[in-house]
Amino acid sequence: MNKIIIAPSILSSDFSKLGSEIKMLEDNGADWIHIDVMDGHFVPNLTIGAPVVKALKKVSDIPLDVHLMIDNPNKYIKDFALAGADIITFHYEAANENTNDIIKEIHSYGIKAGISIKPGTKPSAIFKYTEDIDLILIMTVEPGFGGQKFMSYCADKIKELKQKVKKETIIEVDGGINDKTAEYCISQGANALVAGSYIFSSSNIRKAIEALR
Ligand code: DX5
Ligand code: ZN
Repeated sequence: MNKIIIAPSILSSDFSKLGSEIKMLEDNGADWIHIDVMDGHFVPNLTIGAPVVKALKKVSDIPLDVHLMIDNPNKYIKDFALAGADIITFHYEAANENTNDIIKEIHSYGIKAGISIKPGTKPSAIFKYTEDIDLILIMTVEPGFGGQKFMSYCADKIKELKQKVKKETIIEVDGGINDKTAEYCISQGANALVAGSYIFSSSNIRKAIEALR
């Protein structure tokens, strides 16, 4: 059985001590660190940029999974790649006709390229990119905020996309993931799970991470 990748989202962490939060996640079995980048345009919220990713790279021994929820992602790929992102995922809805160029640019840095779709976007919108990407991030809430309720119809896209991608392509889900919704997503074929509030609201982080697998 393939291993399920758990990527805690630091959006729900204590921003006053991000470095030690990352160490704590690593020590408790996290596989990747999920970093939510928001620009106040593509989504209504503003979070963090490349300088913070660069600082976190210095303290992290596991891959940084950078989720760009920003308009014009093509303008910022270089910044996040040089900051030390190991995976850069951008939104199809923000990239449109630049999608192929963005994938190529991400790959030119020797890192993984991911494409994400919002709840309202059909899987077929990204079929033509499935050969070229390393990861598909299916949003199971509207991007922008942690702590929202999982929308199961979004997870129903997993099966459809799974049939179109290469065997090694990672299918990641993000939004409202807890032990129950994780089980459903894994049963549909997801093999990477992002979780913020579920992990950080738990009194036992190690158990919470293990309960997702
Ligand atoms: C939402 C972000 C998520 C968020 C998940 O736009 O992309 O990564 O942190 O938070 P939870 O797990 O609380 O839904
Ligand atoms: Zn995210």
